[in-house]
Formats: sequence, C-alpha cells, structure tokens
Amino acid sequence: MNNARSMSTPTPAIRPYGLSLSREARAALKAQRPRCIWLTGLSGAGKSTLANVLELQLNQSGFHTFILDGDNLRGGLCSDLGMGADCRRENIRRMAEVARLMVDAGLIVIVAAISPFRAEREAARRLFAEGDFVEVYVSTSFAVCAQRDPKGLYQAALQGRIKDFTGIDSPYEAPLTAECEIDTQDLALEDACARLSAFLFKK
Ligand code: ADX
Repeated sequence: MNNARSMSTPTPAIRPYGLSLSREARAALKAQRPRCIWLTGLSGAGKSTLANVLELQLNQSGFHTFILDGDNLRGGLCSDLGMGADCRRENIRRMAEVARLMVDAGLIVIVAAISPFRAEREAARRLFAEGDFVEVYVSTSFAVCAQRDPKGLYQAALQGRIKDFTGIDSPYEAPLTAECEIDTQDLALEDACARLSAFLFKK
C-alpha cells in the first residue's frame, strides 16, 4: 500500500488537459442526468442485490448505467488491496474516482461497496456536483447479515479465520446524512427495490 500511495503522489509538472467535449454534451446524447448512487452497508446487507435490480429497472426504462461492485473490482482494479484500513481507504478512493469518470462520461453509476468509513464516503461525495451523489444506507443489521452469511465469511471471521472483518474486528461507521435508508430485513427484495427506485425517480 505504501508503494501505491507514493506512486500516486501528485507531480506538479502534470496539468489536466481540457477536453473539447463537455460532460453536459455527453449526458445530453444519453438524454439523462448522470449521477452516482452509492450503496453502503455491511457485507450481506443486500447492496449488490439491490444494485442489480435497480440497474435492470433503470436499463429497462432506457437509462445508461453501470455497476461498480466491491467484490468485482477487488478481482481487478483493486486486486492489490487487502482489507486493512489503509487498503479500504484506497479501495474507496479508486471506486469514487472511477465513478466520477463514469458520471463525466454520462452514465448513472451504482456503487455497491461496504465503504465502512465516513470520511472516505464524504471525500467521494465531494468529487461530485451538488445533488449528483446519492448516498443510500443499506442498514440491514449485523445480526441479520451474520445470520444470512451467504459466503460463510461471518462464521470464518467469528472463528478467527478471517481478520479485519467489518462489524467484527473492523469498524463500520453508519452514515449520518444518507439521502435514503433501506433495511432489507423486513422488506421483500421487490419492495426494497421499489422503495429505492421510487426515491430516485422522485429526485
Ligand atoms: S470495502 O470495505 O473496501 O468497501 P468491498 O465492498 O470492496 O469492501 O469488499 C467487500 C467484500 O469483500 C465483501 O462483500 C466480502 O465478500 C469480501 N470480504 C473478504 N474479506 C472481508 C473482510 N475482512 N471484511 C469485509 N468483507 C470481506
């Protein structure tokens, strides 16, 4: 990680090149308002499931979308990162930067990542124009996520076979100012998705 950090130290000699095609022109061609919809919550809370259903709905309504899923990016762009606090910060920074590029390209981007730290989520928010970053807290409780345990990770972490597990020996800082909160415990998947898409379409 230290290497990655020092490699990314800004070089004063590099200046951004102004692109001729504006983000507004890119969005106009897609006839949509690009946004970043950022789903945060514990492992097993339902973020990826919600993101997938939401993306299908948006796609079927004619919107241009993409999903940045933590588990998927950790197989490629972020495959050099572990689960310690510094690596998670870098993971979120990369996801946020990629999301911003995709929003600049005119897409509606759905991020599904634990993103456990408030400061990094706030830093992500600051990359976007006012209203273009929508934080969705998937607030399914630890008890429910641990009971679901779809990948057996909670059991492994509780037995000490996995370290730095969110909610066990690594913290999760719940959002204080999320635009929307969804608890998948008491809601059927369709209802949870309906609530999320109703909120987004209202916006
Ligand atoms: S984040 O904290 O850096 O945002 P991210 O969302 O990319 O995490 O990846 C979380 C996924 O990694 C979980 O869905 C889970 O499948 C897997 N995972 C593996 N080890 C851990 C761990 N120690 N804590 C949480 N999730 C883990």
